[in-house]
Amino acid sequence: MTSRFHRLEVGYLFNRAFWRHGYATEAAAAIRDRAFTDLAASEVWAQVRDTNLASMNVAIRLGMVVRCRFTKHYRGIDMPHLGFAVTRDEWRRRQPGLTPTSRPRLLPQH
Ligand SMILES: CC(C)(COP(=O)(O)OP(=O)(O)OC[C@H]1O[C@@H](n2cnc3c(N)ncnc32)[C@H](O)[C@@H]1OP(=O)(O)O)[C@@H](O)C(=O)NCCC(=O)NCCS
Repeated sequence: MTSRFHRLEVGYLFNRAFWRHGYATEAAAAIRDRAFTDLAASEVWAQVRDTNLASMNVAIRLGMVVRCRFTKHYRGIDMPHLGFAVTRDEWRRRQPGLTPTSRPRLLPQH
């Protein structure tokens, strides 16, 4: 039997009227869980622009950590990004602090 690495991506974009209620974390956590339970993902990852603190906080609340840095080129502009990810093993070992109902303040937002 061969095992293959299977990476799935999660993205999130909410209407501003619904920010700061925890909906993005709750929805993305459900997608992360589905990726591991039903879709046989080895890892779930998210691409985040390095200035997007709200998005980084969602990724961190999902139990993700930074795995890589890369630059996207969009309409002639270089945009540094961070690649966040959580592996299946990390997700299995997750502590109560990673549940979507907890609300750690991880990076200060202005
Ligand atoms: C990225 C994005 C979805 C994050 O939205 P968000 O509202 O910050 O994230 P959540 O819905 O998980 O809400 C978390 C915030 O709600 C707060 N909150 C308030 N009531 C809450 C509750 N009952 N339960 C959980 N969290 C609650 C949390 O404390 C947290 O605020 P904090 O970061 O100041 O501590 C949003 O900023 C967005 O749509 N941006 C535009 C698109 C974008 O940039 N997408 C990412 C591309 S990489």
